[in-house]
Amino acid sequence: MTEAPKFPYAFIGEVLITQEQIEQRVNTLGEQITADYQDSQKLLLLGLLRGSVMFMTDLMRKVHRPMTMDFMSVSSYAGSESTGFVRIDSDHKTNINGWDVILIDDIVDSGYTIHTVRKLLLDRRPKSLRVCALLDKVSKHKVELSIDYCGFEIPDHFVVGYGLDIDEKGRNLPYIASVDLEKYRALYNS
Ligand code: IMP
Ligand code: MG
Repeated sequence: MTEAPKFPYAFIGEVLITQEQIEQRVNTLGEQITADYQDSQKLLLLGLLRGSVMFMTDLMRKVHRPMTMDFMSVSSYAGSESTGFVRIDSDHKTNINGWDVILIDDIVDSGYTIHTVRKLLLDRRPKSLRVCALLDKVSKHKVELSIDYCGFEIPDHFVVGYGLDIDEKGRNLPYIASVDLEKYRALYNS
């Protein structure tokens, strides 16, 4: 018989960023965005599904400017490895021509996702385009890119929580934790 799943998940390594640290940082990012977009008439937060959902919904409550939200769904990861090939699964609905767009993702790893989506969005002629990511694995970048609003730089660990997943597991943790990949593989034979 297979073991009943545990919570918090049995494959969790250590907590890297606590709930309080996230909350503080999100407050600060919200203040920065509020200040930077004082003159914006059309501000759009555009989140990449599904990893950015928790971050984006917390962040938008700290943006004290008129704004709207939209989402795109893209995939580049299978398990814990980036494939380098970015597929658009579902596009945003807003015509972003003339909008001040902030592209929001949970984490930057190789950078291919942000790089590819950014290029695509620029072709659609927004008034401005900036990138906001909760986490950045700087040492893993494979393409040149700048993150305008970064929550935390982290070392090369596979992490889950606060929206981030490993094969759809771990998103509901309120903190960021590393995954014990050996344990994970033993539990899920992957
Ligand atoms: P990139 O295209 O290599 O930069 O990968 C970015 C995407 O891979 C993110 O949007 C995440 O969905 C996923 N990803 C990268 N690293 C992690 C991680 O440590 N945990 C969970 N998802 C990750
Ligand atoms: Mg993602």
